[in-house]
Amino acid sequence: MKKQEAIVVEEGVIELEKEETQEIQESEPESVKSEDVKSEDVNTIPGVGAATAEKLISSGYDTLLSISVTSPRELVQVAGVTDATARKMIQYAREKLDLGFESGEDVLKKRETIEKIYSGSKALDNLLGGGFETRAITEAYASYGSGKTQIGHALATNCLKQFPDSTVVYIDTESTFRPERIISIAKNIDLDPDDALKRIKVARAFNSDHQVILAEKVEELIKNGLNVKLVVVDSLTAHFRAEFVGRGTLADRQQKINKHLHTLMKLAELYNLAVYVTNQVMSKPDVFFGDPTEAIGGHIVAHASTYRMYLRRGKKGSRVAKLVDSPNLPEGEAIFNITETGIKDV
Ligand code: GTP
Ligand code: MG
Repeated sequence: MKKQEAIVVEEGVIELEKEETQEIQESEPESVKSEDVKSEDVNTIPGVGAATAEKLISSGYDTLLSISVTSPRELVQVAGVTDATARKMIQYAREKLDLGFESGEDVLKKRETIEKIYSGSKALDNLLGGGFETRAITEAYASYGSGKTQIGHALATNCLKQFPDSTVVYIDTESTFRPERIISIAKNIDLDPDDALKRIKVARAFNSDHQVILAEKVEELIKNGLNVKLVVVDSLTAHFRAEFVGRGTLADRQQKINKHLHTLMKLAELYNLAVYVTNQVMSKPDVFFGDPTEAIGGHIVAHASTYRMYLRRGKKGSRVAKLVDSPNLPEGEAIFNITETGIKDV
């Protein structure tokens, strides 16, 4: 139900065969490019038979893109379908192409349902506007030992405390998930450690393909009744970085990361959950002024993350988070400490 509310933007098209759409999307070949989808034959639209397709094509409606941007009335005229069918067709094409338009009012309503997960440090939460938002991807990028993983543990534990019936999914690509850490953080916030560990679903991702599949599986967990409020992917990019070496494979890598991020964003949007991803940095030997480091994954990750913070070591063992890119918050910095019992204000 939640899913339909989130996707269906027009009244009267609620009954588009969700299952059918889903099936078709899932059976898509791995490397479908958006261009391919745009020019996809109108024959693939559920419920469109050969005769209707013929009429559409002869009237110039030969791609999903052309269908997605037309009006129901127009389709009724050229293809002789009912108004309801025309709407379903348009809706289907828009979903396939990710062209969901919403009114500003709808967006505002959605934003009112956003929840914020605490890190344990008020300063860090405030930097992000009060906490790590649901319906968003928050990315922390930094070099090793900066606290990316520690933040993941703290968020996971706090999330379980804040949402008593919730589940956290932790996709661990570097084998750095530590139950002991969850236990010590939980004890500190009066959360039963056994309960906390039970409600964290940890999955080791052995390679990037596995990681992608695990993210896709989260939807199943939710459909099976788990109230997933947070998905941690630590690290988002390490496998990709290790597996795709050299310029020639860079485009493939970016395309795969892009798809993975899209899966995560969709989860965040549809199920009102928070996504926290970590990212390494690489050094840019050609930069002489400013920070000579850059996040892995480049523009793709930068673009997909709703909030990005850059972490670095501060004075006296503290850590500094800098908000780098945010749709609605000023850039700023927060200082916090990593402690045995989690992330704390200085
Ligand atoms: P990579 O995954 O290697 O890229 O690093 P990361 O950014 O994930 O770093 P991580 O979150 O693992 O932070 C590790 C750092 O946290 C260590 O260098 C310690 O300084 C600090 N740390 C970890 N556990 C504790 C603890 O129990 N007490 C204190 N005071 N610091 C800790
Ligand atoms: Mg780490």
